[in-house]
Amino acid sequence: MPALVLLGAQWGDEGKGKATDLLGGSVDYVVRYQGGNNAGHTVVVGDQKYALHLLPSGILTPECTPVIGNGVVVDPSVLFSELNGLNERGVDTSKLLISGNAHLITSYNVTVDKVTERFLGKRKIGTTGRGIGPTYADKINRVGIRIQDLYDESILTQKVEAALEVKNQLLTKLYNRRAIEAGQVVEELLSYADRLKPYVADTVLVLNQALEQNKVVLFEGGQGTLLDIDHGTYPFVTSSNPTAGGACTGAGVGPTKISRVIGILKAYTTRVGSGPFPTELFDADGDALRRIGGERGVTTGRDRRCGWFDAVIARYATRVNGLTDFFLTKLDVLTGWEEIPVCVAYEIDGKRVEELPYSQTDFHHAKPIYETLPGWSEGITKAKTFEDLPKNAQAYVKALEDMSGAPISAIGVGPGRDETIEINSFLS
Ligand code: GDP
Ligand code: IMO
Ligand code: MG
Repeated sequence: MPALVLLGAQWGDEGKGKATDLLGGSVDYVVRYQGGNNAGHTVVVGDQKYALHLLPSGILTPECTPVIGNGVVVDPSVLFSELNGLNERGVDTSKLLISGNAHLITSYNVTVDKVTERFLGKRKIGTTGRGIGPTYADKINRVGIRIQDLYDESILTQKVEAALEVKNQLLTKLYNRRAIEAGQVVEELLSYADRLKPYVADTVLVLNQALEQNKVVLFEGGQGTLLDIDHGTYPFVTSSNPTAGGACTGAGVGPTKISRVIGILKAYTTRVGSGPFPTELFDADGDALRRIGGERGVTTGRDRRCGWFDAVIARYATRVNGLTDFFLTKLDVLTGWEEIPVCVAYEIDGKRVEELPYSQTDFHHAKPIYETLPGWSEGITKAKTFEDLPKNAQAYVKALEDMSGAPISAIGVGPGRDETIEINSFLS
């Protein structure tokens, strides 16, 4: 047994935090493998609500070891404020492990993220402004700063100077900003070194040894499939691989170790930031989904764009991730609609298309073809079994399952830990 991957099947905010937290009690390690504090995961435990950005949601389960893998980008100031916030609320965070190979989000990368977006104007991505893209760009350009660099001042200084060489030219000559001084950046980074030290580990070794000992490891994705740098709606994506393969590179665990890949799928669709979204609603239904679903970003406070369920996207997520299961979330939000449209295919330039087109132009032109399913009016948040759901809600779930290409093994009927219907165990 088992390494499981849990990831977003749409454009993020599907309820990954809640799903991870729910499994936390049964797993030994929860690992973030990509992204950074662009993520915003809300977890509700009893009457307590937690907003996590960088830390894996397993941090709320005392038996579980939370791990930040090599594929994550880490802003130490955010990490510390998140740890402080949890400690103040009595959460023990001492078991946290962080890969020494994870890259650091430096203050200049936050600056570059913001000025680049401003420079793009109408063509902006709508990033979270947290320095994610520029930090991954530095990693690929081989001028990134890793956590291990904090423990060799001379190397750190050389690397920061190298990273700033081109950036300062850009900042001063193109963006009309002041140059950033390497010495100040080094000083700031060094100020984090001592507090980070106890958490820094060879997480690749730890995780592989855990798997050899039959421990249960859960990989928790940030963002979602359609925000993936390779498989998402490029260029309106994040700069990492939230899809299943990202768990292998972002944690150093081979694909043969992964036994289950669970796609978190919202019963409707949302997106934050720019980019195409075929089922987006601009009417009262969209407003109602936003209001009832509480669709406001945890990280940036932006309203989320809302639309009906898109089965083309769900099928695509099944394919690119090799999904074994879906966890359908927020079914309760759809209570009260007389009829619920579901997108089953697209019309692109007069032709019916069943699968997600690889061409950006085609996807921008895609118009949803809807089938309408009957709704239900009874509240469902108390439902404990599939049979407790109203017949039309059962039929909605079954229809989504048939269209999406993998079994729906759990259903979220409310934000709380216990507001979940388990159909097949994820850990058997
Ligand atoms: P994540 O980024 O995928 O972890 O998702 P977010 O936390 O950004 O957004 C999901 C929101 O939906 C959070 O506020 C959750 O508390 C909430 N949520 C998760 N599952 C359910 C559910 O089944 N029903 C309802 N009503 N809310 C849910
Ligand atoms: P969770 O983990 C939804 C979006 C941003 C922007 C694009 C690129 O909570 O699901 P970035 O700052 O990553 O360079 O921004 O990606 N985005 C998210 N949207 N949920 C997220 O995370 C997101 N993380 C990034 O809005 O469109
Ligand atoms: Mg979120």
